[in-house]
Amino acid sequence: MTTAEAYVEFGRREARGVSPSYERLSAAVAHDESLLTLLDGLPPAKRQPNLLFSVVRWLGGPVDDPAAFHDFTMTHWPAVKAELLTRATQTNEAGRCAVLLPVLAALPQPLALLEVGASAGLCLYPDRYAYRYGKHQVGAGEPVLECAAAGLVPPARVPRVVWRAGLDLNPLDVTDPDDVSWLDALIWPEHAHRRSRLRAAAAVAAADPPLLVRGDLVDDLPALAARAPADATLVVFHTSVLYQVPPPRREAFVRLVGELPGHWVANEAPEVLGYDGLPDPPTDALHNVLALDGRPLAWARGHGQAMTWFG
Ligand SMILES: C[S@@+](CC[C@H](N)C(=O)[O-])C[C@H]1O[C@@H](n2cnc3c(N)ncnc32)[C@H](O)[C@@H]1O
Repeated sequence: MTTAEAYVEFGRREARGVSPSYERLSAAVAHDESLLTLLDGLPPAKRQPNLLFSVVRWLGGPVDDPAAFHDFTMTHWPAVKAELLTRATQTNEAGRCAVLLPVLAALPQPLALLEVGASAGLCLYPDRYAYRYGKHQVGAGEPVLECAAAGLVPPARVPRVVWRAGLDLNPLDVTDPDDVSWLDALIWPEHAHRRSRLRAAAAVAAADPPLLVRGDLVDDLPALAARAPADATLVVFHTSVLYQVPPPRREAFVRLVGELPGHWVANEAPEVLGYDGLPDPPTDALHNVLALDGRPLAWARGHGQAMTWFG
């Protein structure tokens, strides 16, 4: 896929109906030859729309007007380029816990949670947040995570978590203002509800920080898993991570996680784990597949805002 095609695809499948400003920007960048030339001088992983838009926002640039965005990005290209090269998309979306919850609540309790690709670890607190699936509310904490769920029997209660740990190539720290401002810049401009969700979830994590280990999800997983208490169900999970991992390493991870005790919960784009025989997704928008121990269970929207269980 060319860089221009990647921007068209992002606008159509991720931003449309979700972020009008990013949808406009994606369409404009896809036809902006001078900006595309600069982007094509970067490694492929550094050309992606979400990273570029977040970096420009983080530097104080405009994202609501494509012409102003173009001017700012071209004028400040050395600074934009430096940030693109050092930063990565590490969006940490606590809302994805709404998708994980039904699976986690149905496993033998208590749980020892180990998240690979944890970012700042905000998805390690599914027991502390509250959930609304239509009229059905689960849990009593903050933030309250709304999820439009079709075909789901909502869980009666949140899971019991006795251990939580995260592994990430670059763990972020919710008590570090620079890390929090980057997490904030990664949230799309119109998403005030996600910004307040970030603040509420960061307060939960800051009050009881998770064990976050810097490391790779293949090389460093066995050592961290060995630290989990033996009298709890180990759950290794990940959401929106494996698309950042090269295919041979994904395969090594899948083999490794299959050898560990406990369960494996994945919430990833369908092509990433290559499931056979999936039903059609409910809409053309980008969906993840929620799976338990390699068995696909449901389609889930990217930020946990909706899910559709397979029949
Ligand atoms: C898009 S973020 C998702 C964060 C979190 N799972 C969530 O859903 O909110 C992907 C995270 O995976 C991490 N990551 C990518 N490749 C990794 C690897 N090989 N080992 C560990 N972490 C990795 C990145 O650093 C980043 O923090």
